[in-house]
Amino acid sequence: MVELKLRIDKTLDFVDPNEIKLFESEAALLQNKIYDKKGAGNDFLGWVNLPAETDDALIADIEETAARIKAQSKVVVVVGIGGSYLGARAVIDALSSNFYQMQYQQADNPMVVYAGQNLSEDYMAELLHFLDDKDYSIIIISKSGTTTEPAIAFRLLRAHLEKKVGEQNAGERIYAITDAQRGALKTLATEKGYKSYVIADDVGGRYSVLTPVGLLPIAVAGFDIRKLVKGARAMQEHLQQEKELLKNPAALYAVVRNMLYRKGKTTEIMASYTPNLMYMVEWWKQLYGESEGKEQKGIFPAGVNFTADLHSMGQYIQDGMRNIFETVIRVENPRYIMEIPHDSNDLDGLNFLAGKRMSYVNKMAEEGTMLAHLDGQVPNLEIILPRIDESVLGELIYFFEMGCAISGYMLEVNPFDQPGVEAYKKNMFALLEKPGFEKETAEIKKRIS
Ligand code: PA5
Repeated sequence: MVELKLRIDKTLDFVDPNEIKLFESEAALLQNKIYDKKGAGNDFLGWVNLPAETDDALIADIEETAARIKAQSKVVVVVGIGGSYLGARAVIDALSSNFYQMQYQQADNPMVVYAGQNLSEDYMAELLHFLDDKDYSIIIISKSGTTTEPAIAFRLLRAHLEKKVGEQNAGERIYAITDAQRGALKTLATEKGYKSYVIADDVGGRYSVLTPVGLLPIAVAGFDIRKLVKGARAMQEHLQQEKELLKNPAALYAVVRNMLYRKGKTTEIMASYTPNLMYMVEWWKQLYGESEGKEQKGIFPAGVNFTADLHSMGQYIQDGMRNIFETVIRVENPRYIMEIPHDSNDLDGLNFLAGKRMSYVNKMAEEGTMLAHLDGQVPNLEIILPRIDESVLGELIYFFEMGCAISGYMLEVNPFDQPGVEAYKKNMFALLEKPGFEKETAEIKKRIS
């Protein structure tokens, strides 16, 4: 039994329900291709059975490490980029107080801060300055072990920590998550004896949140990774068993977004009305953008944070180029109750809302916006979550992963590779005069002189 629901009724002016039914067999066929490992990129399907196959021993080991980190440190720096960072941040932010970083000194669990997602000198200098007087640990996550951004950040952080607590103590506060065999990080971790976890060969970065890549940082932040995996497992079982398209949310999501795409709706905007989900939207953007944007095809994934962005992007969505559809993440029950107070002067004229909950106002904003956008020719899908907790987030993650794989196959691309990401790296290395890039350096220098 899963709790996540997908509603498509606000797309039905654009996609004919009878036409949706015609995709039932194609969607089932493509989903089977994923289970049978018969499609493009089938050596990267380790994520498919991951929730069911995650064994208790691994979870217990991660929980033990998280407890050790908690005993060692008030702050943990998670170093990684893209798939080696966004999933953990998405879950931690979704489950945490919006102000948790400001309250870390009183908190039971260490504060998680992030590094290795940019090359900003100021960001790194400010982070190291912040860490100067803190007890901290480092979780370095890189499958390849050679990605430039996290490698530079880790080099700086390791030097800082070794100087602060000595090489041996630093070795006990550094945790590595990387490839089983290859890569610079694996070599260093073995040499220095860092506690390490493996990213399986058949799980790509953006599908790795339910491996130690996501689970260790999430456990360190104090959240229940057993419930997260259990939620994902419930969704895995549901999607595997449910053959009827209208009852299989991942297949239905893939079908409807592809139908809209074929009708010229080439941009999907993921909208959330809860700031805690901002990084979930960032993770979704990577998952779908990196999986589908290839061979001059793909739905462009954008994200907005409502109601804030109604005051910045609302005009465009309502009235700009009509190539957009929206997917709204609705959370039915907030964590807290907050009623709007009565004001005897009523200068703002809001007494008609006195005694009403903020979530009620937020919901009316959401309903009103969806209808306005629909009137403006922007179809809306809705992902409905009963609440934000580990179990529901587990469902959401797996739903998005499977939806993405089916959708990529519908687009006839390989959803598990990312050849386009190499182009910027090649130019950057050429400009940095990396050994081995001499020819590229000579060529690129002609282009910028
Ligand atoms: O999804 C992906 O494959 C990428 O986002 C990678 O996770 C990202 O580039 C980081 O790679 P690595 O883990 O090898 O450092």
